[in-house]
Amino acid sequence: MEIVILPDGAAVGAAAAARIAAVVQRKPEAVLGLATGSSPLGAYAALADLVARGEVDLSRTSAFALDEYVGVPPESPLSYAATIAHDATGPLGLDPARVRTPDGNAADLEAACSAYEAAIAAAGGVDVQLLGIGANGHIGFNEPTSSFASRTRIKTLAPRTREDNARFFGGDLDAVPMHCITQGLGTILDARQLLLVAQGESKAAAVAAAVEGPLTAMVPGSALQLHRTAVVLLDEAAASKLTLADYYRFTYANKPAWQRVD
Ligand code: F6R
Repeated sequence: MEIVILPDGAAVGAAAAARIAAVVQRKPEAVLGLATGSSPLGAYAALADLVARGEVDLSRTSAFALDEYVGVPPESPLSYAATIAHDATGPLGLDPARVRTPDGNAADLEAACSAYEAAIAAAGGVDVQLLGIGANGHIGFNEPTSSFASRTRIKTLAPRTREDNARFFGGDLDAVPMHCITQGLGTILDARQLLLVAQGESKAAAVAAAVEGPLTAMVPGSALQLHRTAVVLLDEAAASKLTLADYYRFTYANKPAWQRVD
């Protein structure tokens, strides 16, 4: 795992964008894994700048979102389908026809989960998966005790997640859906590269547990330890509970030029 501690959230976003751009420059038809929420916004903004400057073209790139609420219609601005369209598809110049989110309104949700897995496989798998992490250690909406082998499925959101996400629902906890469809940890681990971004002190404990703690279903983010190419981009606050922070800084400062992409 590569852990990079950067001065602030803007630097985290720029570093994530550079890494995604490097993948797409090598492979214009790459498949991106997209996250919603606050964490990836800096990465999307920085990537949109690279697109606007003509440094990378995402028009042939496909994308799959990590998750979707159950029962929120896609036309609602609160749906992850709408959020991805607003935060990523439009600004990044992705072709909307190549961007998918799980169907949280399907009559048969289990079939929708299987169809999502099949669509990812048919696209050739995800090349680079952008991830945030919840304060309770979740990635995607794989809440604590999710199986490391899990695939796309229906989950019940943890109380902490619903509280954290109430801010998107005008602070109304009752309005936050109870269920979601999320890619499983096994699905996420199948991506060729994982790119987790975290900013702020509220993520510090979850980041430390995921990166330096034991591999445990109680901290779904610890699944990154099983991946061969996982990169964790942190601002100082999100890195503040890491035991080996100085080692990560030393490693990054002494990284050979041929290994750098940012
Ligand atoms: C979103 C997702 C979640 C979020 C996590 C952090 O698609 O899968 O794992 O990344 O809840 O959310 P923010 O970034 O809003 O703090």
